[in-house]
Amino acid sequence: MSIITLTEEQDLIKMTAKDFAAREVRPKAAENDSEGKIPNWLVEKMGELGFMGMMVPEEYGGSGLDCVSYVIALEELCAACASTGIIMSVNNSLVCAPILAFGSEKQKQAYLPDLAGGKKLGCFSLSEPDAGSDPASMRTIALRKTDSYVINGAKAWITNGAEADVMVLIAATDPSKGHHGISAFIIDMDNPGVKIAKLEHKLGIKATSTAQVYFEDCKVPKSAMIGQEGDGFKIAMTTLDGGRIGVATQAVGIARAAFEEAVRYSKERQAFGRTISSFQGLQFMMADMATRLEASRLLTLQAAVMKDKHMNYSKESAMAKLYAAETAMWVTTKAIQIHGGYGYTVDYPVERHFRDAKITEIYEGTSEIQRIVIAREILREIV
Ligand code: CAA
Repeated sequence: MSIITLTEEQDLIKMTAKDFAAREVRPKAAENDSEGKIPNWLVEKMGELGFMGMMVPEEYGGSGLDCVSYVIALEELCAACASTGIIMSVNNSLVCAPILAFGSEKQKQAYLPDLAGGKKLGCFSLSEPDAGSDPASMRTIALRKTDSYVINGAKAWITNGAEADVMVLIAATDPSKGHHGISAFIIDMDNPGVKIAKLEHKLGIKATSTAQVYFEDCKVPKSAMIGQEGDGFKIAMTTLDGGRIGVATQAVGIARAAFEEAVRYSKERQAFGRTISSFQGLQFMMADMATRLEASRLLTLQAAVMKDKHMNYSKESAMAKLYAAETAMWVTTKAIQIHGGYGYTVDYPVERHFRDAKITEIYEGTSEIQRIVIAREILREIV
């Protein structure tokens, strides 16, 4: 952790998360990855520790903490297991956050206590098989009836999709209005109109589900809408601003885990009669890994601080995600290089970190989308 001073409470959160990760998460991470076992049993435990709704106020059953505390705890879990980390991150950033920010009092009371307490799990659904980076071109339609909406269409790339009890869904209510014809809903996943169509077989984060979901005449009451009709695109974008802090943190956690493995290995492995850590070539590599890792963490904490201060942090969360994700790919590549052939095998955890790192450049907005968000803000700011 950097020089940024943590409060006593944040220190305690960090220690709690570190201890939980070491006891319950890390020991099973490799097995869960190789067997594609989703650690559902951890959701309730994370709920009991207050990790599933960290920024949800206590009156709705959450921990009532700030975003910096969330980042600190999430990094510890992601360093142990990136899959467990994203299960936690999606529930916090993409599900609890929009319900808290845009939901009605009734929706908050109905959903947040169970989501924050780890009794229910949430997922977020925006992308479609043919609409990822450009979600405004979505085709899933929610047709308004007298006192309900009927949803039809297909959604894709839904983390937690197979296990979730609750979905925050973004769907078109009036396609003729473009961005302004998109709305947000809370969907109970046991609605008979919701069908899990396909589970993806992935390169990394194998201990999570990534689902395609179909909606077939899925009827929901009008009261399932979050905010007003037409608010959905802005709700999605605001939600993703926060989500990107979570993915940046995941990337920091993955990079840190790979970096520490590489440093330890370099101090044990001998070549030419010396430990390989004594070679300047490796020292320079490790110095660069440490520097990029620290820069990623600082960018992520900066975005979190700005969120806590209710500032506009779109650019900063995009910068944090972009830089941390590319750092995670770079650091994990170097970590394998330092391990040599052993790093390329499943006998060492760096190959898992390498595979897990890649998704951070893709989900919740690709690196190219982050560059678009950053560039647009820069062009607006500098006159
Ligand atoms: N906050 C609030 N409002 C915002 C906003 C933000 N960050 N960004 C844009 N908006 C508003 C704009 O102000 C505009 O509003 P008005 O029409 O009232 O002026 C409206 O939204 C449209 O904005 P743009 O014209 O900028 O929209 P665009 O179509 O050009 O798209 C984009 C911009 C940044 C490229 C956006 O489409 C985007 O972020 N794409 C990537 C989507 C993404 O991240 N998908 C990941 C899915 S989640 C996931 O990965 C699954 C999972 O489970 C982890």
